[in-house]
Amino acid sequence: MTSATTVGRVFDPAGPEHRPDPHPLFHRMREQAPVHRHVSPSGRAFWYLTRYADVQRALLHPDLGRELDRLPPELAAVHRRWDRDPLAMVRRNMFNLDPPDHTRLRRLMAPAFGPRTVAALERRVHQVVGELAGGLAAGAETGAETGGEAEVEVDLIEALALPLPIMVVAELVGFPAADLPRLRRWSDAMLRGRDAAQVRRAGLEFVAYVNERIDERRARPDTYTGERQAGPDADGRRAGPGTDDDGRPGGAGEDLLSRLVRAERDGAGISHEELVSSVFQLLLAGDETTVNLIGNGVLELLRHPDQLDRLRARPEMIGSMVEEAMRFNGPVGHSRPLYALADVRFGDAVIPRGDIVLPVLLAANRDPAVFPRPDVFDIGRDPNRHLGFGHGIHFCLGAALARLQARAAIGALVRRFPGMALAADPAGLEWTPDLFLHGVRRLPLLLRQRP
Ligand code: HEM
Repeated sequence: MTSATTVGRVFDPAGPEHRPDPHPLFHRMREQAPVHRHVSPSGRAFWYLTRYADVQRALLHPDLGRELDRLPPELAAVHRRWDRDPLAMVRRNMFNLDPPDHTRLRRLMAPAFGPRTVAALERRVHQVVGELAGGLAAGAETGAETGGEAEVEVDLIEALALPLPIMVVAELVGFPAADLPRLRRWSDAMLRGRDAAQVRRAGLEFVAYVNERIDERRARPDTYTGERQAGPDADGRRAGPGTDDDGRPGGAGEDLLSRLVRAERDGAGISHEELVSSVFQLLLAGDETTVNLIGNGVLELLRHPDQLDRLRARPEMIGSMVEEAMRFNGPVGHSRPLYALADVRFGDAVIPRGDIVLPVLLAANRDPAVFPRPDVFDIGRDPNRHLGFGHGIHFCLGAALARLQARAAIGALVRRFPGMALAADPAGLEWTPDLFLHGVRRLPLLLRQRP
């Protein structure tokens, strides 16, 4: 017999044994307990949703919110016992806010992510990918010259996936290229610090750094151009994402940080804490997610050689290949936690007010009710309405930038290295330790320029 709700520890989607391949468990949960309350070893309860329709509905539901303060104090207090967030100083960003505060911040930030920014960054992304892939190709050539095989073994994550997204976030925000190593260190420590003290230390260092950059812009609010990494176009326009999409003339002072500093100064609706938290959010949202999309995408191509051949024969399929990678094994396991602000019914189950709900995007994307043959990796899948970038008002603001980077990186790799192969047993790959982000830590590849 199946029931809509299962209470207890029967299914533990966060269990480490499911990290390499959580999908068999998700299928069982979707069939037997699509609205599943799991109590973690520390005693905290989470409701996991694994059906596409439920995930979509949860992300649109007005009674499932992100602000703990909207719960009555006695219910909020239950969560605060667990929530000693070492990054509490950077929490006031869109991830953790509901309307109207979410709407206000999203309106301020969204224009900086529009088509003109993406177009301006496109050339830069292709240039950086070209340089990184060129370096790998040179490695393979050297192997040939020294009498060895015309191939090189690399960790794709380190060599290609990691350097790109952080560069894009830095360009978007307006951080100097020279600071990339520091940003990389803070991003890693804030997401994967050893302990709360290390996470907090990295958070405080990052906040101090952002405040310095803010002070620079405050000193010259309308003229700041920063140390851009990209020079001007041949016709004199800025090549970086300096122009925005709401009709302002391009030119000085138009990176995202300048825009937000000006909004704070003009009383246009952003507090200092929100400004710093929003910049932090971009590092959290745009870095490891994109790294994982590139890593997971290449891994699936290598695990499915017929699909890799198909892409080689028709390189224009790179766009739908990236969408299928998002669906099949996307970088984000579940959305940020949602609090039930009232009792909320899903099928037979009533989620009581005050409980936490986790819509599992990875599971929704393999729901056979929406995707025929969900466990088949098909780079031509159409339609492909995956929820890998979320849904509703929190839909990923950086989706176009992420797609651009994944297409450029995976496309270049496939084009340049016809003889690309896994240099490790896929079963032995190390995956991220929790369900929130989903990706491999290292991806050893053998790269050959000849088949
Ligand atoms: C939100 C996925 C890349 C910026 C989200 C959400 C998901 C997501 C699932 C919704 C989370 C929720 O509802 O709790 C991804 C994936 C990426 C990616 C899979 C890469 C493959 C980026 C990049 C940026 C970015 C490159 C910016 C540089 C954001 C922001 C939000 C967001 C600002 C919050 C939007 C809001 O709350 O209104 N992303 N993201 N993301 N993403 Fe992305």
